[in-house]
Amino acid sequence: MPKSAAARLTFVATYLITGIAGFVGSHLAHALVARGDHVRGLDNFSTGRRANLASIAEKIDLITADLTDPEAVERACKGVDAILHQGALPSVPRSIKDPRGSHRANIDGTFNLLEGARHAGVQRVLYAASSSAYGNQPGFPRVETMLPQPIAPYPVQKLTGELYMQSYARVYGLETVCLRYFNIFGPRQAPDSPYSGVIAKWVRQMLAGEDATLEGDGEQGRDFTYIANAVSANLLALAAPADKVAGRVFNVASGQRSSLNETWALLAGLTGYTRPPQRVERRAGDIDNSLADIGAAGEAFGYQPRVSFAEGLARTVEYARALQA
Ligand code: UD1
Repeated sequence: MPKSAAARLTFVATYLITGIAGFVGSHLAHALVARGDHVRGLDNFSTGRRANLASIAEKIDLITADLTDPEAVERACKGVDAILHQGALPSVPRSIKDPRGSHRANIDGTFNLLEGARHAGVQRVLYAASSSAYGNQPGFPRVETMLPQPIAPYPVQKLTGELYMQSYARVYGLETVCLRYFNIFGPRQAPDSPYSGVIAKWVRQMLAGEDATLEGDGEQGRDFTYIANAVSANLLALAAPADKVAGRVFNVASGQRSSLNETWALLAGLTGYTRPPQRVERRAGDIDNSLADIGAAGEAFGYQPRVSFAEGLARTVEYARALQA
């Protein structure tokens, strides 16, 4: 029997973070470095940014490689206790425009990671899964026992990764844990790509006094989750006993839904923005609503959102304002 993760991972451990230079990956890296753990990171810098790691660059071991390179991934997994697999090509619209590119990064990349982990004897893998897997089916809040109904290629890819994670838990005994992220937002989220998350984009545009776009009538809703809450979910899931988490899927969210119109109003208030939204058509493959039941993560590893939506928005605006100053 391997030592339980709880026993082993409470000591100084070596973690591999894939997508370490990205938004979520870099926050996880900062949190692990702050508590004195050894952090190795893998990134191909296709969407990640070195600036996200600037203040911890000396303290991490950074490998520039692509998840689609099996040998590089296998080398990166050597000597690692647990992996936080955040590397992916996100965005529903990107996956519609370039399904092959996102398929390679998200499915082939995840498969390579699991093979690397298995060969290196890694104990645990946390996987950044996506709430978009639930699709547009009726029934809120979303519970992990619902049958997924992914629509666009991106949620299909993320869900495929979950199935692979579960297979590796059952077949090879790897302690895989799927965390279904619900619209994570916060400081360092890239604001300047057409595929950026809506909050990061709007904050930048509002602070710059530029026009900002609202797609559809704005009544679609999301369970927006502040980054610090997602980080705490990961740290708790890393330390949880295997029998509570291995091979399982958990929602990671705030447990509250906000419409885009409500979000617009809050951000306009925080930034002093007075222009009306530029209204355009709804996106293909967009989901109407999103709201999570977060009871399973609470029960299994004590997860509870600590930072509210309003406080998260305020911190995000403050960060973006300081960057502009
Ligand atoms: C997001 C994530 C995705 C994750 C999913 C579930 C990003 C880029 N995507 O997808 O990786 O799997 O949550 O957690 O973070 N919108 C506007 N104006 C804009 C931009 C967007 O009105 O300028 C609208 C979109 O049409 C959509 C909503 O805002 O209705 C949210 O879009 P977005 O932030 O891209 O996130 P999701 O598609 O929900």
